[in-house]
Amino acid sequence: MGVFSKVSNIIFDTGLLSWDVLLTLLNLVRRKRPIGHVTPEGHPGHGGYWPEFKPPLEGASRCSCPALNAMANHGIISRSGRGISFVELNHHIRATYNFSPSFCSHVPHVAARMLKKSYSKDTFDLEEIDLHNGIEHDGSLLRLDTALEPNQSVKHIPFIDELLAMSTVKDRDGNDIITTKDLSKILGKRRAVARAVNKEFSLSLFHKIFGSTNASTLITIFGGRVDDLRDFLHYEQLPQGWESRIRQPHGLTMLSFNKTILAVELGVREKDWTEVAQKEAEQSAADADAA
Ligand code: HEM
Ligand SMILES: *[C@@H]1O[C@H](CO)[C@@H](O)[C@H](O)[C@H]1NC(C)=O
Ligand SMILES: *[C@@H]1O[C@H](CO)[C@@H](O)[C@H](O)[C@H]1NC(C)=O
Ligand SMILES: *[C@@H]1O[C@H](CO)[C@@H](O)[C@H](O)[C@H]1NC(C)=O
Repeated sequence: MGVFSKVSNIIFDTGLLSWDVLLTLLNLVRRKRPIGHVTPEGHPGHGGYWPEFKPPLEGASRCSCPALNAMANHGIISRSGRGISFVELNHHIRATYNFSPSFCSHVPHVAARMLKKSYSKDTFDLEEIDLHNGIEHDGSLLRLDTALEPNQSVKHIPFIDELLAMSTVKDRDGNDIITTKDLSKILGKRRAVARAVNKEFSLSLFHKIFGSTNASTLITIFGGRVDDLRDFLHYEQLPQGWESRIRQPHGLTMLSFNKTILAVELGVREKDWTEVAQKEAEQSAADADAA
């Protein structure tokens, strides 16, 4: 990367953070969007009416991210998952999930930089973001590590079921809810088990934060609601009538999201799972011998 683009990246990032702080403050003083009106008018999903869900056809491109796959499955971005521009991704993750404009600008910029592509001019296929140790990393909530399952658009069903079964509390209306504590607990287990089972395991602090970032969307954007998460995680589908649980007018900002991420990450206790992980490693070695 040249000096010019490094400097322009730093200027861009600084501007982005100031913008994000401003939006966080505006969210504190402005009225929340009314329930039923979170998804903006004119965007798919307004009023809870999502375009028809269709599972991917043969040859379609999908990736490790359930949120991007779901947008393709509903035709909010191209159903083929190919030729997606970073600019349209920004626009659609904002309207679909109600992340703040600062977050929605940040993430596609990060993805474009990772793929060495131009944010404003280039397009990508979903599978391209699965570049190992780019954003994609080991010890994830929903998938086996790349060394065990090279196709990172394949979800590991037992992991999803285990996550959904973590819920121990209900909200006022009696819905099962996954909390910050539940999420820290299961992340600790996933990391400990992956570390024991996968000989090529690697997880930098940086990627741990990525992991808790992605996982934290489940308790913010989805409000931890198990009924919604079941469709979203198993089928990569947005339930009819669903809307983001974030009702702030400027969406979920990086600053307020960081508070959740920090709480999740600080609650992770990998050591609590050492014995469980050892047993699972022995079991998987035995399974491999038997096969
Ligand atoms: C440009 C936007 C986005 C990009 C480039 C992106 C990229 C990724 C990648 C590469 C992964 C795999 C990480 C891993 O190895 O575990 C991932 C996972 C995930 N993402 Fe996204 N994502 C984006 C937006 C979103 C949004 C808007 C949501 C939620 C509304 C979301 C929710 C998730 C969840 C729940 C996971 C699974 C985490 C896990 O298995 O541990 N993502 N994303
Ligand atoms: C990866 O898995 C998905 C989902 O099971 C499948 O549709 C796709 O064809 C697979 N891709 C490759 C390259 O095997
Ligand atoms: C998933 O993690 C990566 C790394 O932090 C990030 O670029 C992407 O935005 C995350 N997705 C969400 C919605 O947090
Ligand atoms: C939030 O945390 C990320 C690291 O995960 C950092 O890059 C970013 O600057 C933080 N943003 C704000 C607004 O605090």
